[in-house]
Amino acid sequence: MESSHVAIIGSGLIGCSWAMVFAAGGFKVKLYDIAQQQLTTALENVRKQMKELEESGFLKGTLSAEKQLALISVCTDMKAAVEGATFIQECTPENLELKKMIFSQLDLIVDDSVILSSSTSCLLPSKLFTGLKHVKQCIVSHPVNPPYFVPLVEIVPHPETDPSVTEKTYALMKKVGQSPVKLNREIEGFVLNRLQYAVISEAWRLVGEGVISPTDLDVVMSDGLGMRYAFIGPLETMHLNAEGISNYCERYREGMKLVLNTFGPVPEFSGEIEQKINQAMSEKVPAVPKHLGARREWRDDCLIGLAKLKKQMKSN
Ligand code: NAI
Repeated sequence: MESSHVAIIGSGLIGCSWAMVFAAGGFKVKLYDIAQQQLTTALENVRKQMKELEESGFLKGTLSAEKQLALISVCTDMKAAVEGATFIQECTPENLELKKMIFSQLDLIVDDSVILSSSTSCLLPSKLFTGLKHVKQCIVSHPVNPPYFVPLVEIVPHPETDPSVTEKTYALMKKVGQSPVKLNREIEGFVLNRLQYAVISEAWRLVGEGVISPTDLDVVMSDGLGMRYAFIGPLETMHLNAEGISNYCERYREGMKLVLNTFGPVPEFSGEIEQKINQAMSEKVPAVPKHLGARREWRDDCLIGLAKLKKQMKSN
């Protein structure tokens, strides 16, 4: 895979992030989009981000920002972008018909060895890839925003994906410093969003039932559960919170079931509760681009700091 290049289809938020991740890993990257202006803006953004990261000492990889930038080229010709690529990462808007059209265009021009990977957050591989001639080479590699700082990638094969494609995608993600996990089969929401939605649902219900305020609810996660979840998952948490999993189950299974049986139905995510949560969140961070942008920058700075800490803790 080393000597050839990675093609990125779509140069928006996620496409640019992938371009930076692969360039940091030393790969040549061809960034494709339908509009030249979009590509020009994308490249300017990537340059700006890389320079800032280099100045603050957070640029990934061993190459300088200039050298990484030199690895990235842009084009508006799909065929030229993917010719000779060993890995294609699709990053177009989350629209099934659009993505299907793009994969059927790619299907006509790629060879039998390239991996066709989609960044989709929630479209099932069987919806995206069924019927393609190259279906065995197709897979979902779902990143987490912002992928440059949050390394998880959910690798979700289509039922017909060749196992070697899953393995190669996994190895590639490792190589560029991401943290891949493999799903053994496709499922709505994959794993990350299923866990996320479980948390959001209960948060919504607790606020809706007046148990806690929206801002305090968030503190339960940011200063409570989230503190350890950045380092260990829920299962290891169980293991460590007792004398191992079996002991945890012995001690807490009845209590857990009792609590879980009091959970309510799936919320509507609308109406009065929505207004209440919106008001509380907007008081903290007004829902306008200037304030949201500033808060996102602060979040990314926190994530950079956390990534640094995680690296430090691993090497101890
Ligand atoms: P975006 O809207 O920022 O970028 C989409 C890009 O695709 C734009 O540059 C657009 O010009 C381009 N595009 C549109 N039609 C095209 C075509 N026919 N051929 C080539 N390029 C085309 O979207 P974003 O946020 O980067 O999302 C991309 C994918 O990544 C989506 O599937 C999304 O669900 C997924 N994703 C997004 C995350 C996020 O938080 N934004 C997180 C994880 C995955």
